Amino acid sequence: MNGAAKSGKTRNIVEKMNETGKNCVIFYGSQTGTAEDYASRLAKEGSQRFGLKTMVADIEDYDYENLDTFPSDKVAFFVLATYGEGEPTDNAVEFYQFLTGDDVAFESGASADDQPLSSLKYVAFGLGNNTYEHYNAMVRHVDTALTKLGAKRIGSAGEGDDGAGTMEEDFLAWKEPMWAALTDTMDLQEREAVYEPVFCVSEDDETTAEHDTVYLGEPTAAHREGRAKGPFSAHNPFIAPIVESRELFTVKGRNCLHMEISIADSNLSYQTGDHIAVWPTNSGAEVDRFLEVFGLEGKRHSVINVKGMDVTAKVPIPTPTTYDAAARYYMEVCAPVSRQFVSTLAAFAPDDASKNEIVRLGNDKDYFHEKITNQRFNIAQALQSITSKKFADVPFSLLIEGLNKLQPRYYSISSSSMVQKDKISITAVVESVRLPSASHIVKGVTTNYLLALKQKQNGDPSPDPHGLTYSITGPRNKYDGIHVPVHIRHSNFKLPSDPSKPIIMVGPGTGVAPFRGFIQERAALAAKGEKVGTTLLFFGCRKADEDFLYADEFKTYQDQMGDTLKIITAFSREGPQKVYVQQRLRENAELVSDLLKQKANFYVCGDAANMAREVNLVLGHIIAQQRGMPPEKGEEMVKHMRSSGSYQEDVWS
Ligand code: FAD
Ligand code: 2AM
Repeated sequence: MNGAAKSGKTRNIVEKMNETGKNCVIFYGSQTGTAEDYASRLAKEGSQRFGLKTMVADIEDYDYENLDTFPSDKVAFFVLATYGEGEPTDNAVEFYQFLTGDDVAFESGASADDQPLSSLKYVAFGLGNNTYEHYNAMVRHVDTALTKLGAKRIGSAGEGDDGAGTMEEDFLAWKEPMWAALTDTMDLQEREAVYEPVFCVSEDDETTAEHDTVYLGEPTAAHREGRAKGPFSAHNPFIAPIVESRELFTVKGRNCLHMEISIADSNLSYQTGDHIAVWPTNSGAEVDRFLEVFGLEGKRHSVINVKGMDVTAKVPIPTPTTYDAAARYYMEVCAPVSRQFVSTLAAFAPDDASKNEIVRLGNDKDYFHEKITNQRFNIAQALQSITSKKFADVPFSLLIEGLNKLQPRYYSISSSSMVQKDKISITAVVESVRLPSASHIVKGVTTNYLLALKQKQNGDPSPDPHGLTYSITGPRNKYDGIHVPVHIRHSNFKLPSDPSKPIIMVGPGTGVAPFRGFIQERAALAAKGEKVGTTLLFFGCRKADEDFLYADEFKTYQDQMGDTLKIITAFSREGPQKVYVQQRLRENAELVSDLLKQKANFYVCGDAANMAREVNLVLGHIIAQQRGMPPEKGEEMVKHMRSSGSYQEDVWS
């Protein structure tokens, strides 16, 4: 039974829409909040431009067995992200299994052959990444399944590509013809869009921010009340002590953090190869900028109550809170800003000149790219680049609607659960990019937050890079020492259950993270006298004496494991030409092929955009060349390895 059922709310979407007078539901399947954000934007546009009565729905909050009763005068949108290896997002797993299962059964008893969804009109948009093999698999499969069951799609099924960095423009280009098709089908009239807040934000004079009902960064009510307890999950993070943190790079100006996070006494458990999610805090400087641009700095600690204007509007941030806490802990204020969101601010511009500039930015894709996207501006930086005046008339509801919820970031756990079951290691490279075209440094939220925590923990006197005026351990500090909110996500990236099987690992840069865990585990098994198969790591970095992660540790393991552990390195910036792990794979084709013949598992971790794809290709070539097959056969063998689980990827972009 899930949350909706427990709370007595209906899980029947048709009933819910009838009760609330809606004729358009926008379901989302979202992992990191982007699909949810697009769903909210579609809901807003549908209601403001076309007078649709829209609601946004988490796809796991409703049942699917009654979709065959969906009335023909209503429409359902499916905004679905594809996760990892063509998988549904966690909240869409059941929906996906239901719809694509062999024996899809509806409550009415209708079977698939009866075209049970013939009254369902739907719109579909997928969020994917073309650097992964199963690009936009979710929306493609769901679209096919819905059509097969008789449902009628309105417009084309849109596909946004995060890999090419065109998600936003793909979405904007897809939605106009879709709205035109929907207008025809549902006989809608387009009207001039007038902003209608989705949330009512009221300032509370009575309550002080210290009052214990006010959220000041705590993720849940239980945390706020100091009684947080397990089970800890993606909805209930554990506030974990960081017990050790150190720098892994030996070069100045770049940072890679090794952190040990204790999960003792949490009842959390992990397995080697799992992911840990870190819940970040925004940088103090960016929080200040945001509050200043919107004229909120003078009342940053005022208590605000946020309520949905109607019962279906889910308030995405905890309430009551303060402007400061909302910007610092709950809203993604540093993310790249979208063209559509910037355009919605035109109506609230402080003068005509800035209004005209915003309208131009909204209408001219290339101009927006030149002025905003290429500069990597967040919302406040974008507005500051337009005028030095404040945008004090922008309703706070519009900011809550237009910005994503601050999302946890995932890290591949770099320790072995067999060796340290209560302590999770992470290996995180600090994102800090100075673009040639931009005058500012673009900093990743979470990694700079972790860097600041590390400095604090180690008593480092250099300036706090993240401006941690306070963090989760802040104004109501209930914790001794340095803590970070975390949860764990189990993955399929796993060592073979039989340790005598050989493994081949390819992990340049922080891609080595899970392999440190794998090696730690196999070294421990070898020390216990178990037979451990060849453990071959291809590692790449810039220079041996700058960023060779865990070099000393690996030496110790090599001493312990002897020839069983082989590490083959590719240093890209030591010689006149770049050397990458792919080249080392080719040079060691015979060894790789022999190990594969001995049923080695092959693992790739790290950069999805280029490295993982290139490694996949090279492996196909190696197999073909070593076994005297045509190249296509080699590619087919890799595909087969993927489907049988002997080629596993843990990649991100
Ligand atoms: P974010 O704030 O999320 O920014 C991400 C990127 O966008 C940065 O490069 C930043 O420079 C850029 N950016 C920020 N703001 C803007 C803006 N306004 N405009 C344009 N660009 C902007 N990372 C590791 O280091 N180690 C791991 O082991 C690891 N494992 C992972 C495992 C999985 C399954 C996944 C999905 C990811 C993993 N990552 C890992 C990546 C990690 O989750 C984060 O994405 C990464 O650390 C950056 O997070 P951040 O919050 O610091 O940056
Ligand atoms: P580079 O930055 O010198 O180009 C970890 O980031 C290592 O991966 C670095 O040595 C980096 O080299 C290398 N790298 C960059 N692009 C890669 C690719 N497409 N394939 C494999 N390794 C790559």
